[in-house]
Amino acid sequence: MSPTDSASSLADIAAYYTQKIAAHGETAQGVDWNGADSQSLRFEQLTKLITRTTGFTINDLGCGYGALFDYLLTRYDNFQYRGYDISTEMISAAQMRHAKHDDASYWIGARPDGAADYTVASGIFNVRLEQSDESWIRYFKTTLDAINETSTLGFAFNCLTSYSDRERMRQYLYYSNPCEMFDFCKQRYSRNVALLHDYGLYEYTILVRK
Ligand SMILES: C[S@@+](CC[C@H](N)C(=O)[O-])C[C@H]1O[C@@H](n2cnc3c(N)ncnc32)[C@H](O)[C@@H]1O
Repeated sequence: MSPTDSASSLADIAAYYTQKIAAHGETAQGVDWNGADSQSLRFEQLTKLITRTTGFTINDLGCGYGALFDYLLTRYDNFQYRGYDISTEMISAAQMRHAKHDDASYWIGARPDGAADYTVASGIFNVRLEQSDESWIRYFKTTLDAINETSTLGFAFNCLTSYSDRERMRQYLYYSNPCEMFDFCKQRYSRNVALLHDYGLYEYTILVRK
């Protein structure tokens, strides 16, 4: 699951995010987003996947400090949430934040270790640091395979778009072609795939329903 053959690459990305939460705490900036509004707008897109309004299970890969769990609490009841993150500090923060909630649990890891009805992944394909395009796309697709295997009803993820303004693009970030990813998901995972690229951010969201 590591982005390259170098064992340190995911550890470097974990360290990048650990620095963010150390600097900004449990805020949108602490997981490297610009602000709370865009963080919530992403959750709004991803949770369009959820068609069961009660009694579902959900994996959150790249959960950060658990902001999605807070979002879900305001909209759904009776669900089981499992958050996974490669940053130990993110997981510690999430565990403390939701210590009183039996329906949330947090785990260190780069892939879900159990199946759920739904899986969402917000922001895990953006920061690639020094990884080449070739290496990162291989990692991207391998991770999607793992998500697919552990999602019974479907999954959703977002990624920065190759339709971003050139002058604003950064080498350490990865921008993928949404049409190619749509085609990849449609050919590989399900006939029921939605591409959302209409919510005003330099990114897109894909929903895969099984
Ligand atoms: C941009 S932040 C978003 C956090 C959270 N999803 C949110 O929107 O508030 C991405 C998070 O994913 C984690 N991450 C990156 N790649 C990951 C992977 N392969 N598996 C698990 N966590 C990952 C990072 O440590 C970071 O906490």
